[in-house]
Amino acid sequence: MRILAIESSCDETAAAVIKDGREIVSSVVATQIEEHKLYGGVVPEIASRRHCESICAVVAEALERAGMKNTELDAIGVTYAPGLIGALLVGVNYAKSLAFGLGKPLIPVHHIRGHIAANYLAHPELEPPYMCLVVSGGHTHIVEVLDYTEFRVIGRTIDDAAGECFDKAARAMGFPYPGGKYIDEASKLGDSRKYNLPKPHTQNPYDFSFSGLKTAVINLIHNAEQKGEQINVNDLATTFQHTVCRILEDKFLTAAHEKGYKKIALAGGVAANSGLREGLEDKALEYGMEFFVPPLALCGDNAAMIGAQAFYEYQKGHIANENLNAYATMSLDKVRY
Ligand code: KG4
Ligand code: ZN
Repeated sequence: MRILAIESSCDETAAAVIKDGREIVSSVVATQIEEHKLYGGVVPEIASRRHCESICAVVAEALERAGMKNTELDAIGVTYAPGLIGALLVGVNYAKSLAFGLGKPLIPVHHIRGHIAANYLAHPELEPPYMCLVVSGGHTHIVEVLDYTEFRVIGRTIDDAAGECFDKAARAMGFPYPGGKYIDEASKLGDSRKYNLPKPHTQNPYDFSFSGLKTAVINLIHNAEQKGEQINVNDLATTFQHTVCRILEDKFLTAAHEKGYKKIALAGGVAANSGLREGLEDKALEYGMEFFVPPLALCGDNAAMIGAQAFYEYQKGHIANENLNAYATMSLDKVRY
């Protein structure tokens, strides 16, 4: 089964053709990051406009690279939640028109389910059940993947997402948006023992809290500025990354161990972080667990992951009609169409 998938939930316009949920036939991502960088973050109105301008060309390119005509497709998959509402609506309306014009099924896909499914494209042997840590710009979840379309969120951030915390700390350190990858690079050059950052506590041991950590970084920098002291950015970035990664790893591994999982996976934009990838790989080995993570190109937003999840949603009969709407927020274990 060949599915054309469309993703437009934030600042990437993407389209992909995916075979049977596991094989990338083609994948195209048009990023808007350079433009949003000027404003220090994603400007929703600009994002929507750029999606409108790019979507036809991006889909055409995905079909051309796949060597297919749209009439040869079996279904259309699309991200319909969560995300920026104006951005989502561009993809949803395009997908709706295409699906009904072609007379093909329309499959709505939850963005975070897509991030998790990126693992299926890289690891043919991976099957549920397993436990997944989802870390992106907007989400930080510990998820039990009970089946391909059955999820239970057992832990989540009670304030900022991990990626958001990376980006805000990076901004305070003087890096451009989105700063996660700059902190990652700087962390290879510094010393993690030069600064002290707090590890916040939460009532539910599987929940996360990152706003205190973000504020601690901002305060540390302001205090130094007021005293006329120089901050060593590499050391601070290293300490910060080390702290975030240890928090994520400790909670995730404890949860997986307590729930008896022998397979664990990582997903979302922050899954590109080198410290987190290495840390989880080492810890999984210690606990005797198998560890799965997508390649870097599939960690950030893309449509290939949406096509992978769309295949499994289709198997379960999750098909939408012309009334499909987009939703800015929606929990991945309580989806609605
Ligand atoms: O999944 P994603 O592409 O978009 C959302 O769905 O939110 O995630 C983007 C987030 C940003 O916060 C970005 O800074 C972060 O992923 N990110 C990283 C790295 N690469 C991207 N964070 C830490 N280390 C990285 N290497
Ligand atoms: Zn994402």
